[in-house]
Amino acid sequence: MYENWEEVEDACKNCNKCRLCNERKNVVFGIGNKNAKVMFIGEGPGADEDIQGIPFVGKAGQLMNKAFEGIGLKRDDVYITNIVKCRPPKNRNPERDEAEACIEYLEAQIKLVNPDIIVLLGSVALKNILGIEYGITASRGKWFEKDGIKILPTFHPAALLRDDTKKIYFWQDLKKIRNKKEEI
Ligand code: URA
Repeated sequence: MYENWEEVEDACKNCNKCRLCNERKNVVFGIGNKNAKVMFIGEGPGADEDIQGIPFVGKAGQLMNKAFEGIGLKRDDVYITNIVKCRPPKNRNPERDEAEACIEYLEAQIKLVNPDIIVLLGSVALKNILGIEYGITASRGKWFEKDGIKILPTFHPAALLRDDTKKIYFWQDLKKIRNKKEEI
């Protein structure tokens, strides 16, 4: 549907297809290397992201950056975006119709980046990309494949802030990404 970055970014930044456009300060489109081998998909912007228009700049993003450093991955090497591009009020989960309205932008981003690996951060990304409901703990750390892209679900970094014991699993999953990237 979208032929290039300009078209999709322009459409997304002017989007009013769902109610989330009403309270947004900024559309949070995505950031990083547009030719990345690894793409990270979160849930939706929080308050800091809404203000700055950049994904994962708040506390969860800072934790993610630290984990990236630990495996020698730079934020600039990867492409980072979310299922929905506008902040859901009070950081609630995006509703199904909101995600459905927004998914064409993500699909275009995936086509344009054409990554080898997609990392799904948390259950909202898992549900919307792989159609798996309520399964992040069971699905994390396992490789899936869709349209020739290797997909690894893991915990959302915000979950690690709430529960320290999940950090070790997130770390293990990031190491799997590093190893897979070297294999490809
Ligand atoms: N949580 C997300 O899922 N995405 C962001 O961009 C920030 C926090």
